Amino acid sequence: MQVISTVAEMQQVARRARQLGQTIGCVPTMGALHAGHGSLIEASAAVHAVTVTSVFVNPTQFGPSEDFDSYPRMLDADIATIERCGGTHVFAPSIAEMYPGGYTTKIRLDGVTEVLEGAHRPGHFDGVATVVCKLLMAMQPDEAFFGQKDYQQTLVVRRLVEDLLIPVTMTVAPTVREANGLAMSSRNAYLSTEERHRAAVLYRALSSAADIVTAADQDVSRHAIENAMLRELHTVEDFSVGYAVAVDADTLLPADTYHPGDRLALLIAGTLGTTRLIDNVLVTV
Ligand code: PAJ
Repeated sequence: MQVISTVAEMQQVARRARQLGQTIGCVPTMGALHAGHGSLIEASAAVHAVTVTSVFVNPTQFGPSEDFDSYPRMLDADIATIERCGGTHVFAPSIAEMYPGGYTTKIRLDGVTEVLEGAHRPGHFDGVATVVCKLLMAMQPDEAFFGQKDYQQTLVVRRLVEDLLIPVTMTVAPTVREANGLAMSSRNAYLSTEERHRAAVLYRALSSAADIVTAADQDVSRHAIENAMLRELHTVEDFSVGYAVAVDADTLLPADTYHPGDRLALLIAGTLGTTRLIDNVLVTV
């Protein structure tokens, strides 16, 4: 497996693969890889001769009081995981390589970036959109793989790819969970064993709300769905709710009432102790 640290070498590898008639899949990550990332690498490796996994903790998507400094970094272990999952290349650039001195170009999207995570983490999605665009320019993939775990991020990247005419197919893979339902996340490393147990409440809350939505054979009120989530979330000590919402799956906007056939995203964010957690499920009335 090849570990690449410069954009120039990455683009050369992509060019050579293309000359050989090979297709390229890519999996953008910030490292500290777990089975959720692994499932994306495996999905790409099943289809593409070349699967590039990028490992880059992107400073521009962290707020000033967020965990950029403490975010787990373990490149050697990540390289072993990528190899085990069938990845062929790792792209692990430095900050200076991705943001050369004097850079001033930033990508900002309206609309779907302004609610939920975007409202709680100002500037976050500008940083995500900017780095994803740059990573795609470097890796030149035919197909890019993202996880449903970060559902709003998938909508942002879809919009970016469409708006900037980026020639890549975007694939979203299901959320990989621990046995107790907790969505795998690099940030779960911040949780104690006991907190991991309590953190399963997010998925319990989403599941009980999803049951209400799928069981409805007529209109269902947003309040009924959101109250079901809040009731469950409040059973756990030390979980502070950021949001627990039932919104249109495409726009992320709320309506008072949902009708049979409506496709909804149920999304929760909050803080357990000091660790911020997010999760979601998609469901049709
Ligand atoms: P990161 O949090 O490392 O996630 C990388 C990819 O793995 C994302 O597409 C994310 O949705 C997916 N992923 C994370 N946990 C998952 C799980 N439990 N099941 C399935 N997929 C999962 O998301 C980012 O990095 C960054 O914002 C990035 C897109 C790399 C830009 O910096």
